[in-house]
Amino acid sequence: MEPEAARRRIEEAGQEQLLRFWDELSAGQREALLGELRLLEPGELAEHCQRAREAYIREGSCPQRLDDRMCPVPAEFLGSVRRGQPGELRAWEEEGLCQISQNKVAVLLLAGGQGTRLGVTYPKGMYNVGLPSGKTLYQIQAERIIRLQQLAGEKYGTKCTVPWYIMTSEFTLDPTQKFFEEHNFFNVEPSDVVMFEQRMLPAVDFNGKVILERKDKVAMAPDGNGGLYKALVDNRILEDMEARGILYIHVYCVDNILVKMADPVFVGFCVSKGADCGAKVVEKAYPAEPVGVVCKVDGIYQVVEYSEITAETAEKRNPDGSLTYNAGNICNHFFTVEFLRRVAGTLEPSLGYHVAIKKVPYVDEEGNLVKPSQPNGIKMEKFVFDVFQFAKNFVAFEVIREEEFSPLKNADTAEKDTPTTARRSLLWQHYRWAVRGGAKFIDANSHVIEEDARNPEREDAPAVCEISSLISYAGEGLDLHLKNKELSSPFILESHVL
Ligand code: UTP
Repeated sequence: MEPEAARRRIEEAGQEQLLRFWDELSAGQREALLGELRLLEPGELAEHCQRAREAYIREGSCPQRLDDRMCPVPAEFLGSVRRGQPGELRAWEEEGLCQISQNKVAVLLLAGGQGTRLGVTYPKGMYNVGLPSGKTLYQIQAERIIRLQQLAGEKYGTKCTVPWYIMTSEFTLDPTQKFFEEHNFFNVEPSDVVMFEQRMLPAVDFNGKVILERKDKVAMAPDGNGGLYKALVDNRILEDMEARGILYIHVYCVDNILVKMADPVFVGFCVSKGADCGAKVVEKAYPAEPVGVVCKVDGIYQVVEYSEITAETAEKRNPDGSLTYNAGNICNHFFTVEFLRRVAGTLEPSLGYHVAIKKVPYVDEEGNLVKPSQPNGIKMEKFVFDVFQFAKNFVAFEVIREEEFSPLKNADTAEKDTPTTARRSLLWQHYRWAVRGGAKFIDANSHVIEEDARNPEREDAPAVCEISSLISYAGEGLDLHLKNKELSSPFILESHVL
């Protein structure tokens, strides 16, 4: 595209500022900027900027309250690990393992986010939270897949595969690919790892003007984890799933260190109920916890944010004392491939955008690069869970937070959802598994750590214990290795030492 044509297009969209530094740019920089502008269609760009500005103004006004229109997920569509009968849970697990053993289940990782709150320059999956093994989130996940394939294969006498689809973005694709290659795909078969890229959208300032990140670069951001549905089409991922005979997908976020990928209990529950769309949920920790709640609004399933209900509704209780709106969304979803086909095919355009107000680095009028200390930009995102509304048979499945949910969102300066809390959650879990498996931990003086020293309220587990996911997916089979063993802390159980 010629510079004049670019200027006309940009003017048509009301975004002349993007060429503000044109005269100062080198030939290479001009080419780079033109390359970016070529991808922005003027009509769509103008609409995007206007939508962002309007959403930002709406955001500043009083949030719409949904209290009078809500009702909780009906009991018959809500499964629970806590309340399920042991026989029932076992049957769901067997159903899930059976589907996995027949190569019908895949996992899909949402890994296109920028991880701005954590503040690292590389993809979050490459983060090491400081476990004794030094494993990264990607490695932990890879090992869970390998172990699950083994469990399902052994139970049903097959050799099976759980393909790993990984949605990345412009920020995360190259480093993720390189990281996997450098680590030999953590021993997952490379042809079973399918990485693809989501789209990007320009970040916009509060006046509806696209932000320049550098003199020659537009500030772009991934289009949210709900960008998944467009990305599935762009990259022909559903065709890949169908070619492999996949029927069911477990979608999850990169940052939950306890994620049970393709959890057979959850998959089995959803399949048994004939669901096309399902969500794992955890009980809210306290009424005002700022998590989205899965419920019905005007009879249609959706996730309601804490800001959309009054404190009174958040505190409402059932006769047994539990919170009425208790189903905290943990971004852990089940979809049939058929459902994804329906969404990606025709329904996706009707998903609304959410506005995220963020600090977006920019170049000021004088051409200086500025890292703002206050939010200055609007990013428009779609959310993966906004498709619940399209489900013909939606189910929710409640799991135990301590066993399944501990997200890494913030740097260690924050109180919650940090590398430290993620590490502690995993080490506590492995400590519990080891004790359940019959191990005893001894302290530096060879004294057994007594039961009463194990106060679940304390932050660190009484002993440091890490168990490779290659050995145990969910705490199973550990008596074989640990029964009546005296272990001193730190203890690491790795497959190569068995
Ligand atoms: P978050 O909403 O926590 O965003 O993503 P984030 O990018 O990880 O972190 P912040 O908000 O910048 O600090 C939840 C999940 O959705 C994925 C993330 O990678 C994470 O697994 N995600 C988010 C995408 O895949 N694409 C996006 O555009 C945004």
